[in-house]
Amino acid sequence: MSPSLTVRRIAADQGAVFRELRTASLREAPYAFDETLEEAMSADASTFEQTAARHAASTTSTSFILYTEGHPAGLIGACFEDAAPHRAFVSELWVAPAVRHLRGGELLVNTASDWLAAGGATEIYAWIADENRNAMRFYERLGFGPTGERERIPRAPAQFQTLLVRHVPHHAASADDTDAPL
Ligand SMILES: CC(C)(COP(=O)(O)OP(=O)(O)OC[C@H]1O[C@@H](n2cnc3c(N)ncnc32)[C@H](O)[C@@H]1OP(=O)(O)O)[C@@H](O)C(=O)NCCC(=O)NCCS
Repeated sequence: MSPSLTVRRIAADQGAVFRELRTASLREAPYAFDETLEEAMSADASTFEQTAARHAASTTSTSFILYTEGHPAGLIGACFEDAAPHRAFVSELWVAPAVRHLRGGELLVNTASDWLAAGGATEIYAWIADENRNAMRFYERLGFGPTGERERIPRAPAQFQTLLVRHVPHHAASADDTDAPL
């Protein structure tokens, strides 16, 4: 039987879980992220605690955690662009190999998208390393398409990453809002 997968927004006291998931993702899939494992490992535990506390409360950036049978098994980041809050990004997406192909990635992206759309985002962007063909296919299957934007990866300047976008309908809850989601 497939394990049940759930997604919840990070809680203020989940700095250690956040660190565990982030370092696991950088160890398992270093090709997928800008940050390196060494950078994450050398960061003080308090850095993760501060990020978890901020992401639990902020209206402009957050993280969601995937659970399988109650155990943390994946992560995604979501944030608004400062100057143009109808534009938002998902990042740091990772699902533990043992629970891949069970739609956990889809659940993370859709939950993060819903949160961003509720805050007024109509365009959700994601940077994908060109060599990460699996992630490219994954995002395309979820309705993300090319923006035409492509740039060198800061961590590995010989390689490129491509910006994908998914357009989401203006969220009913924010239909009358004209202000930035701050
Ligand atoms: C990309 C990733 C998050 C997908 O997570 P997931 O939980 O397996 O995703 P889902 O089950 O929702 O969807 C899987 C679908 O994505 C695509 N896909 C994902 N991994 C794939 C692979 N190894 N080979 C082929 N297609 C793949 C397929 O369309 C697949 O559909 P299928 O399961 O019916 O074959 C996961 O593979 C991962 O964490 N990869 C390493 C980190 C990474 O690349 N992150 C993205 C950074 S931009």
